[in-house]
Amino acid sequence: MNILVTGGAGFIGSHTVVELCHAGHTPIILDDFSNSERSVLDGLKNILGFEVKFIEGNCNDSSVLEKVFSSNKIDGVIHFAAAKAVGESVQNPLKYYELNVGSLITLIKTMEKHMVEKLVFSSSCTVYGEPDVIPVTEQTPRKPANSPYGNTKTIGEDILRDVVLAGNQFQFIALRYFNPVGAHESAEIGELPSGVPSNLVPYITQTAIGKRKSLTIFGDDYDTEDGTNIRDFIHVVDLAKAHVAAFDHLNDISEPLYDIFNIGTGLGNSVMELVNTFEKVNNLKLNYSIGPRRPGDTVKIYGDVSKANKILNWHTEKTLEDSLRDAWRWEQKLASKK
Ligand code: WQD
Repeated sequence: MNILVTGGAGFIGSHTVVELCHAGHTPIILDDFSNSERSVLDGLKNILGFEVKFIEGNCNDSSVLEKVFSSNKIDGVIHFAAAKAVGESVQNPLKYYELNVGSLITLIKTMEKHMVEKLVFSSSCTVYGEPDVIPVTEQTPRKPANSPYGNTKTIGEDILRDVVLAGNQFQFIALRYFNPVGAHESAEIGELPSGVPSNLVPYITQTAIGKRKSLTIFGDDYDTEDGTNIRDFIHVVDLAKAHVAAFDHLNDISEPLYDIFNIGTGLGNSVMELVNTFEKVNNLKLNYSIGPRRPGDTVKIYGDVSKANKILNWHTEKTLEDSLRDAWRWEQKLASKK
């Protein structure tokens, strides 16, 4: 299938492009490099041995989308393009609503005009807020988001649901990601946080490489075994493969559909466990200290992924050790390019 991948030069998008190609699909990348770098395209070429079709543009611009859909045969879309910095979204909510919600509406309207029915939407476990019961299933009630970023994911899911309920001939899947970590084993692509990383693993690898002085663990006085937060850290390649599985599932469907899947490992690891595992698998000592809690942090969350296992026939293949080994290899590769 010819699949338009918006945000396809991003962290999860680029890894998904690789897996789409390996599965025999033909991805077309649409990206404006607002949260990625052009060098990712070179990395993809080094992995795949050929250049993936790429269009530079903002998917919130209807004229860009109109051009893409009228000059390419598109069978389906994976929509990654969005801003995702939780803290920034609190400071600048309009940017997040305009980009994240606006681009989804523009995309669906263009899909409708060109009779493209299949869409996989990048959602997030953030819609669960602080769950009362873990692991969370797709039936776990969503909670009011604690950031405009999280709210754009909740709104995005509701847009997909209501468009299908209105009787439109679409097949939509929302994938609720947990914490994507790691990098492609080739170290040709990986996470490229801009500025100081807000996410844990890139901050760890930048500390280990000497780019950051020390990691601050945001609180060790939570109601968990070791006092640090629990998360579901999933290797980005496993997450990428879930998008291929979602499309293969959509391929067999022609009636209207909106469905949701948790995409995680189904396991919870604490921040401290992750730090200790990073040190162990990479045989190094990490500089870190315990600091104050970070406002808005969920204490404990990890996913029940049995629905994706069963319906999408998708299972994780990589371990936390694989993720942390690959993340470190990628950070070392970045340093060697400097
Ligand atoms: C993880 C844990 C921090 C940095 C992410 C994405 C969000 C969404 C959900 C996709 C927390 C701790 C972190 C640091 C630390 N994903 N931490 N020191 O907050 O779970 O959210 O997944 O939509 O976009 O941000 O991920 O990596 O920021 O934090 O102690 O320097 O690591 O307190 O417990 P989070 P994170």
